Amino acid sequence: MKVLVTGGLGFIGSHTVVELQQKGYDVLVVDNLSNSTPAVLEGIESITGQKPYFEKLDLRYKDAVQKIFELHPDIEGVIHFAASKAVGESVEKPLLYYENNISSLIYLLKELTNRNINNFIFSSSCTVYGEPDDLPVTEQAPIKPALSPYGNTKQIGEEIINDTVNAYAGFKAIALRYFNPIGAHPSGEIGELPRGIPQNLVPFVTQTAAGIRKELSVFGNDYPTPDGTAIRDYIHVVDLAQAHIIALERLFNNKQKSNFEVFNIGTGQGSSVMEIIKTFEKVTGVPLNYKIVDRRPGDVVAVWADTQLATNELGWQAKLGLEDALRDAWQWQQNLVSK
Ligand code: NAD
Ligand code: WQD
Repeated sequence: MKVLVTGGLGFIGSHTVVELQQKGYDVLVVDNLSNSTPAVLEGIESITGQKPYFEKLDLRYKDAVQKIFELHPDIEGVIHFAASKAVGESVEKPLLYYENNISSLIYLLKELTNRNINNFIFSSSCTVYGEPDDLPVTEQAPIKPALSPYGNTKQIGEEIINDTVNAYAGFKAIALRYFNPIGAHPSGEIGELPRGIPQNLVPFVTQTAAGIRKELSVFGNDYPTPDGTAIRDYIHVVDLAQAHIIALERLFNNKQKSNFEVFNIGTGQGSSVMEIIKTFEKVTGVPLNYKIVDRRPGDVVAVWADTQLATNELGWQAKLGLEDALRDAWQWQQNLVSK
C-alpha cells in the first residue's frame, strides 16, 4: 500500500517514514525542503535499506498538489506533516503561516475527496489547549483562544477537517495532538535540524552542550511548580512516529469510532525545564552552562497529556523515557557536528 507523507523529510515526518517502511508500506514523500534537506533521504535509507519515493513539491500551489496524485494514482492514505511551525515567526509573519498551513491543507483535502482517498492523519498540537484548567489534559478540554497564528492554524485545521468529514461520506481523519516531541532515531542517522538559533528547549540544550551556544537561558524559575520552572510532556519522536502508523491502520481497517477522531500523543508525564537539564547532564555526563532569565512571553506554566484515550482506543503508549530521548538527541547532535 502506498502512503503519502507530506513534510516527510522533516523531524517527525522522517521518523514516521522509517516506521512505515519497516512495516512494509511503500512511502511517497513530498517536501519543498523549506525546513529540511535532501540528505535526510540518505539517513532514512541507511536505516531501512530503501529510499522512499520523493517529489520536491510545494503544497501551497494547487497544481503541485494535483500533480502528486497524477504521478501517484495508487496512494491510499496520507499523513500530513507539512507546515511551518515556529511560534514566534508566526506572530511576525501571520499570512505566511495561514497560507502555508491552511491553503496546503485545503488543496490536499480537495484532491483526496475528489479521488475518494479516504484515510487522512493530521499533525495537531497540544497548543490548542493553551493553559489548561485541569491536568493532565484530556481531549475533552476546551480549545482556548490561540496564543499565536501558528496555534490558530492547528485549531482552524481541525475545524476544516471536521467540516470535511461531515460533508464527504466515507472520508475519515484522525488528528494527533502532539505534546513536545524530542529525541532522534537511536541509529543517530536522522533527527531534528533546527535552522538558526533553536527556539525549542532540547535542541538548545544539545547545541549548548556541543559548544555551539554559550549558555542556555532557562525562561523563568518563579512558576507555581515544584522547582519553579515550567512543565511539559516530552515525547520521544520514535514513539510519536509509531502512533501515526497505528492511527493510519485504524482508518485502513475501519476501526474508527467516528469519522473524525482526535488523540493526545504524549507520555502522560510532566517534566520541568530543570529536570530536563539534570537528566541531560546525568545521561551524557556533559555539564550544561545555563542561567535563569525572565519568563518567555506566551509560555504556559504546565501542560501534560492524559493519554488514556490513545491507550484504550489505539492500543498505543509511549515506550521510551526522557533518558532515552535525551541520549538519542545528544548522539544526533554529535553526529551533526562531525558531519
Ligand atoms: P519540520 O519543520 O521538521 O517538518 C515539516 C516539513 O514540512 C519540512 O521538511 C518542510 O520542508 C516541509 N514543508 C513545510 N511547508 C511545506 C510545503 N508548503 N510544501 C511541502 N513541504 C513543506 O516540523 P516537524 O517538527 O517535523 O513538525 C511536523 C508537523 O507536526 C507540523 O505540522 C507541526 O506543526 C506539527 N507539530 C510539531 C510539533 C513540534 O514541536 N515539532 C509539535 C506539535 C505539532
Ligand atoms: C519548552 C520549555 C520554555 C527554550 C512549542 C510550541 C508548541 C509545540 C511545541 C508545535 C518551556 C523552556 C525553552 C529555551 C527554556 N509546537 N525553554 N529555554 O514552548 O512548550 O512548545 O513547541 O505545535 O506549539 O509552542 O516548547 O521547547 O519551546 O519550550 O527555558 O531556550 O522550555 O520556556 O517551558 P513549548 P519549547
